[in-house]
Amino acid sequence: VKQNSSKSNQSDGTLTRHLPDIIIIGVRKGGTRALLEMLSLHSAVAAAQSEVHFFDSDAHYQNGLKWYVSQMPLSRTDQLTVEKTPAYFTCLDAPARILRMNPSVRLLLIVRDPVDRVLSDYTQVFHNQLQKHKTPQPIEDLLIRDGDLNLNYKAVNRSMYHPHMERWLQVFPRDRFHIVDGDALIRDPFSEMKKVERFLRLEPQITEENFYFNQTKGFYCLKEKGHEHCLHESKGRTHPNVAPEVLQKLCKYFQEPNRKFFELVGRTFDWK
Ligand code: A3P
Repeated sequence: VKQNSSKSNQSDGTLTRHLPDIIIIGVRKGGTRALLEMLSLHSAVAAAQSEVHFFDSDAHYQNGLKWYVSQMPLSRTDQLTVEKTPAYFTCLDAPARILRMNPSVRLLLIVRDPVDRVLSDYTQVFHNQLQKHKTPQPIEDLLIRDGDLNLNYKAVNRSMYHPHMERWLQVFPRDRFHIVDGDALIRDPFSEMKKVERFLRLEPQITEENFYFNQTKGFYCLKEKGHEHCLHESKGRTHPNVAPEVLQKLCKYFQEPNRKFFELVGRTFDWK
């Protein structure tokens, strides 16, 4: 039973769609799908399975809130609705639009070592291009321009968490956000999900038995009511080998943005 004061704790079993109580706003390749699936283990959570892209797409946004609600899952009155669209984090319009939709919405942000995130972002685009029968560029060509780190490369910009977070904090107070450590979610999903449960004031329900390490996948998979499942094969992919001097450049570059992000959110992360 969910502990949300704004709604009744009793459910008469009627299923309806409603605006989200929780939004996973990013970051892209941070582990947003894992977070959504793990949160769905909780019986008081109903999750939209596809990325809705309502607040970052003008075309969708113009459809209005009725359309947005129609994209939400059916839920009981005692459930919280959650949607995840990682593109919201870097979208200039998203914070104010979300505030207008529901000023008391709770925001989940999952971050990951920015260097790993760049490699994961590259790997995602690499696979998308192969699917479209295009030839992907080598990562070094994208990362390096005239001997320097190419700051115009989108994957690098998206890993600079602090300017994006700064914009969000101009719109929502800090206590409206819970930041999930994406690297910790990989290593120890149970502990990280307990923190999420606490932030959302959900009755503790997710247990260690909900997770088991799958050697073949190399990641934790989920177990629910005797049913086991791992994330899609596109999650947990091998990253390209990058020349050590390029990796070093990346790590060095991110030190200052990382420090600013830690200061902004009032905590640190164990990043390279
Ligand atoms: P990689 O595929 O680069 O390893 P998103 O869902 O936001 O796109 O994030 C994808 C990332 O989620 C994966 O990136 C992977 O590292 C991470 N992840 C976290 N927990 C996972 C899990 N239990 N199974 C698979 N991937 C997981």
